Amino acid sequence: MGKLRNFKRIDLGQIIDSHDGKLSVAESDIDIPFNIKRVYYIYDFDSNKSIRGYHAHKTLEQVLFCISGSFTLKLFDGINYYEEKMNKPNIGLFIGKYIWHTMHNFSDNCIILVLASEHFDETDYIRDFNNFKKIINEKKIENQTK
Ligand code: TYD
Repeated sequence: MGKLRNFKRIDLGQIIDSHDGKLSVAESDIDIPFNIKRVYYIYDFDSNKSIRGYHAHKTLEQVLFCISGSFTLKLFDGINYYEEKMNKPNIGLFIGKYIWHTMHNFSDNCIILVLASEHFDETDYIRDFNNFKKIINEKKIENQTK
């Protein structure tokens, strides 16, 4: 399996206050490789059956964190696949343009935090998998994480 395009892992690190808990910080344009315009979070899954995602974005970039519990993230750049079990609050996955992503296998207490580079825009979504593959084949997509 080759290396996925437009994808990287971000480790925020942890500030450990002895017995008083841990703290992780994500700053725009420092830890997160874009200016954060939107924050949203996903929770209260019907754990066994839930599947989310099933889309790619034309311009949006985002970083996903699992800040509670766990889930499995699957990515596809049109050529290579990548799968990771997300279960560490300080580890984020940067997902750039034209990456098909799905999320499943949510634990009961799972909370996903998403930091996004754009305001919500439904026209930025590619929600049809065949259309995604067609676009990838027709277009040369630049690698943003070189
Ligand atoms: P979607 O991005 O498809 O969720 P997921 O990737 O987790 O499966 O969004 C689900 C619904 O919520 C969809 O109807 C669009 C709406 N939505 C907003 O209105 N604003 C937002 O910022 C987001 C992320 C979604």
